[in-house]
Amino acid sequence: MTNKQTGSGPCGWVVNRGADGGVQSGVSPLPGGHPEEFACIDVEAAGFNYKDALACDAHPGVARTLPLVPGIDVAGTLRSAFEGYAAGTPVVATGNGLGESVQGGFATEVWAPPAAIIQRPESLSATAAMAMGTAGLTAILAVERLRAVIDWEYQSRIQQDDPLPWLVTGASGGVGMLAVAATALAGFQVIACTRKETLTDVLMSLGASAVQSPQEALPTDKKPLSSARYLAAIDTVGGDLLADILRVVAPGGAVGSIGNAGGVGLPTTVYPFILRGITLAGIDAAGLPSRAKRRELWSKLAVLWPLVSASFPVRQIGLQEVGDWARNMRSGHIKGRAVVLPGKKKVAGQNARN
Ligand SMILES: NC(=O)c1ccc[n+]([C@@H]2O[C@H](COP(=O)([O-])OP(=O)(O)OC[C@H]3O[C@@H](n4cnc5c(N)ncnc54)[C@H](OP(=O)(O)O)[C@@H]3O)[C@@H](O)[C@H]2O)c1
Repeated sequence: MTNKQTGSGPCGWVVNRGADGGVQSGVSPLPGGHPEEFACIDVEAAGFNYKDALACDAHPGVARTLPLVPGIDVAGTLRSAFEGYAAGTPVVATGNGLGESVQGGFATEVWAPPAAIIQRPESLSATAAMAMGTAGLTAILAVERLRAVIDWEYQSRIQQDDPLPWLVTGASGGVGMLAVAATALAGFQVIACTRKETLTDVLMSLGASAVQSPQEALPTDKKPLSSARYLAAIDTVGGDLLADILRVVAPGGAVGSIGNAGGVGLPTTVYPFILRGITLAGIDAAGLPSRAKRRELWSKLAVLWPLVSASFPVRQIGLQEVGDWARNMRSGHIKGRAVVLPGKKKVAGQNARN
């Protein structure tokens, strides 16, 4: 089918390996073929997640098939009637192999597995939905999960006059910023932990009660346990930073492990678990939540959006800018989120960096 925006056939950001094993990528015609039950979405916008940055580099943990169009989040309209919805219905599709084992959303069209697709909340435009996307789903899931596992009975017994705050790390990233906003919306005091001091005003307006560097937010000693500073923490960084968090979470508290932007190792001890009874909860927003759960999460995102949209930095980029953005994301240089608009043309001389 001819693409309405470009006047040519369907295209997208396609990643492959050349004969020499090197990664080749760029805007090209889409790789063909998809299972019969998949539904076609005409793409209006796609969210840019850290996983997509890894897929752009053909990272084997994400790019399960090559050639691959990255893009685990997409918003658009159904090309044909699907499961009771008419052609033209606005939908979002997230996870369920998109941009990993099946072709993803950095394209003018995407064939999505039925399990990935749900109707888009009416109040969210495609761009607004993708500004949050999986990052938003993950942030809300994390807050819900931690609330469910914190030992509230113990907290009520110790009756602290000044309840300890929550901590969010990697706070300049998509998940981090939305986790700050979702934690504040849930009524908890939240410290935003970032290496980027310039984002202080943005993070405060999203609901942070303070913004601190990792050196300020976490202990510099290396004792197995350090004095308790947080009731809960949402960690998008992993590695040594996650290990440091575990040493300062209060008895009965909880930590959500979301990401690995800073490393995949976890050099810790059993002491936080056996001497403070804390819970380390894993969060997987891409594979685990059912369609019913995702509908519920999207309706919560529709409530969150008007509260964050004025301060949340969202950069709109075209397909041609995907490679630049992926590089900046992998090196931790971005702030907030990018949304890929397949109809947007690159402005000469401008690089996708904010
Ligand atoms: N579990 C799930 O379901 C799920 C869902 C979505 C994302 N994730 C994961 O969550 C993490 C964050 O995703 P995102 O989309 O928010 O990514 P992002 O926008 O690129 O944000 C990542 C942030 O991590 C921080 N960071 C700390 N050390 C870093 C390092 N060495 N390299 C790069 N960044 C570093 C940076 O924040 P500061 O500079 O502010 O410290 C950076 O902005 C990723 O690992 C992603 O794969 C998991």
